[in-house]
Amino acid sequence: LSVLHRRNDLAGETVLITAGGTREALDPVRFLGNRSSGKMGYALAEAAERRGARVILVTAPTALRPPANVEVVPVVTTEEMRHAVLGRVDQASVVIKAAAVADYKPKMKADQKLKRKGGLTLELEPTEDILAEVAQRRHPEMLVVGFAAETENPVVHGRDKLLRKGADAIVLNDVSREGIGFDSDRNAVTFLTRDTAIDLPEMSKRELADRILEEVIALRRPSLV
Ligand code: CTP
Ligand code: CA
Repeated sequence: LSVLHRRNDLAGETVLITAGGTREALDPVRFLGNRSSGKMGYALAEAAERRGARVILVTAPTALRPPANVEVVPVVTTEEMRHAVLGRVDQASVVIKAAAVADYKPKMKADQKLKRKGGLTLELEPTEDILAEVAQRRHPEMLVVGFAAETENPVVHGRDKLLRKGADAIVLNDVSREGIGFDSDRNAVTFLTRDTAIDLPEMSKRELADRILEEVIALRRPSLV
């Protein structure tokens, strides 16, 4: 039966997916991180492989087992993710940036464990924007898809991000909604392009992965849908 579920509409495509939340070390035992579980990115990697793509999964630490037949590139920090992505992006025809990238990193990393005494003020500096760099270096055939987490006016902020970063589409999570999204097996999103906003209602992340890929395929081959 699984043969029946194997579509080949991504055959010939190389899909580069980022997943998980990057971590920025404060000292040898502590880091700045975020709540990303990696589930959406891993579901996308599995779904793209099932649809016949070659899949490269650049992943920050997660508690998940990577899907079969996927090239896994483990990274920890934003800078490592940036190197892994920029070093492989020329092979990709579709780039999906599902990772929750740390926006800031500590200016200094302590060599020894910081000791608890009194207050602590951290000085942070911004990380590089990997999605914007990928979009700048894209070749004409490449599709670039970002994710965005917003807590207010999601469509307005999401479209602003899409234009600012030069992405073809943004998968918009409204993180103000309870019970879905972070760490959940379910999610609901809006697939945003320059001129469309398609609501994908609550479903499992695995089902959502296929729906997102269908929208990506529709961008690639408008004549076939
Ligand atoms: N992203 C990235 N590099 C960064 C930050 C974000 O590649 N340093 C990517 C994410 O992987 C995601 C998209 O940009 O695909 C949007 O992430 P988001 O955090 O919503 O955007 P930011 O530009 O960081 O804006 P915000 O201030 O709202 O966090
Ligand atoms: Ca961010």
